[in-house]
Amino acid sequence: MCGIVGYVGARDINAVILAGLWKLEYRGYDSSGIATIYDGEIRIKRAIGKLKVLADVLDKEPLKGNIGIGHTRWATHGEPSEENAHPQLDCSDSIAVVHNGIIENYINLKEKLIAEHHIFRSFTDTEVIPHTIEKYYTDSLENAVIKAMNEIEGSYAFAVISTKEPNKIVCCKKNTPLVIGVGEKDNIVASDILAIVGLTRKIIYLEDNEICTLTKDSVKITDRNSNEIKRKTVYLNGKVLEADKGGFSHFMLKEIYEQPKVIHETIEKRLQSGELFKPFPLSIKDSELVKLSRILIQACGTSWHAGHVGKYIIESLCRIHTEVDISSEFRYRNPVTSGETLVIAISQSGETADTLAGIREAKLAFLKVLSIVNVAGSTIARESNDIINIDAGPEIGVASTKAYTGQLFALYLFALYFSRLKWITKDDDLALMLKEVREIPSKMQMILDRASQVEEIARKFHQSSNFIFLGRGINYPSALEGALKLKEVSYIHATGYPAGEMKHGPIALVDKNLPIVCIIPKSNIYEKMFSNIEEVKARGGQIIAVATEGDKKIKELTENIFYIPECSEILSPLLVALPLQLLAYYISTLRGLDVDKPRNLAKSVTVE
Ligand code: F6R
Repeated sequence: MCGIVGYVGARDINAVILAGLWKLEYRGYDSSGIATIYDGEIRIKRAIGKLKVLADVLDKEPLKGNIGIGHTRWATHGEPSEENAHPQLDCSDSIAVVHNGIIENYINLKEKLIAEHHIFRSFTDTEVIPHTIEKYYTDSLENAVIKAMNEIEGSYAFAVISTKEPNKIVCCKKNTPLVIGVGEKDNIVASDILAIVGLTRKIIYLEDNEICTLTKDSVKITDRNSNEIKRKTVYLNGKVLEADKGGFSHFMLKEIYEQPKVIHETIEKRLQSGELFKPFPLSIKDSELVKLSRILIQACGTSWHAGHVGKYIIESLCRIHTEVDISSEFRYRNPVTSGETLVIAISQSGETADTLAGIREAKLAFLKVLSIVNVAGSTIARESNDIINIDAGPEIGVASTKAYTGQLFALYLFALYFSRLKWITKDDDLALMLKEVREIPSKMQMILDRASQVEEIARKFHQSSNFIFLGRGINYPSALEGALKLKEVSYIHATGYPAGEMKHGPIALVDKNLPIVCIIPKSNIYEKMFSNIEEVKARGGQIIAVATEGDKKIKELTENIFYIPECSEILSPLLVALPLQLLAYYISTLRGLDVDKPRNLAKSVTVE
């Protein structure tokens, strides 16, 4: 949520900070701002709305200076407005702060500061930071920041500039990411490497409770007792530069179309030899894996849905008890952690606060954590015992698409390896399954080649105000994911249900205006699913079916059919996901909405 950029050096301050903020706009986009120091004063511009508004302001009246901080906001405290946008200032307009996270005790701090005659001008929790720094600023900005850190509770990353020491940016973090980019004669700090790689690929990941001072020639890190910490820079290579639309009208569409490539590349990397070797370089030993009696998956949102599919995959292929928890529930419900349990955390961004807290809970209970992430250097990756990197490349569209199928694919490879280790899947069956796995990218491509059929269905239904998604078995989570995708990008109320559950309540919602997306690929419960659909059809519901090529029977129920290529039931969620993503995409764009940046959402949810 919220993106931070700070830069010190001789380049054009407006251009560098704006370039960084553009890359971070996925983290929040209801307002933005930038502050520099010039001629002994803080110069500031803030604007409501998407970053474009600020960019236009700066185009007309660029700020001057060789040091500055910028911010793109996802409001938590105080509505999106100019005075609530960051940077936030102290009473004398000499200290400016950009912040990502939540200050949990801000009400107490604010009351105390007001009693001490500090004047507040916003409704944000952030504003207590510049005022607290102002209160403690006697000798150095670093010491004042440390004293402020001692007072504030919550999760935060913030960057500060002050006119008293106009050549430095001081930043710090706790439970929220912050990355330093080390340049030649300039340095940069940001919430995400995406905002940095245009300038330098030499990176330092700041750890919790560290304070970093950047001048144009130096980067110094200390702990909260001002002891210097020596940290090596990491050189970034790989896909971090791919964050452009590549000719597609939206990132979401581009990322939907990237799915065959992502899966193909994983196959090339992990299954080259035709043999199933340990598909990812895991430190967990085979001897430990076979002893496991339970797997506990925890994640949020779409990643939680991937985990749900993972439960079906792991239980069916590995015969091991698997639970799936929403991280924000897992972390507070005092989960039973006895036995030989492996915790699997799933997170595209690797920064989701609730998932990270779940990992910390699990580690406190001495459980090993394997995380499935898409960002190798992320906090979740660094704090887990083992990671599987899905290597899907940056996902910029707020709605997760290629990361979801990438997560599913990682779960398949993990489960297949594990199953073979336990001698549950025999060699012949495994060979058949791997053959099918290799066909997934081309089958995905066949679906994408017929995207216009989904668009046609979207045209018929894009004005509906409610949708139900139904699935059974391994495609019950596909129904949940289809509904989530639709609601987040189209603002249409949509709900996912296991089809067998309809008659226990939700069938009351069915009337002739209700579109019901039924996921009915070939499976051993096809007939059960078919009769569930007949039940809703009999109440007037409008059926949209996702079925398997060659299924003629489904035509008895509807003409709105999207066919996926034939594949075994267990792999079908990988294919089913694509028409559901396309349906959400087309409905959103037909309604004229900003599909890449839906209202109220942010890509990386680093607050509780
Ligand atoms: C939905 C979506 C979210 C995320 C959720 C977890 O399209 O993207 O539901 O899946 O916020 O995020 P990660 O996977 O980064 O932990």
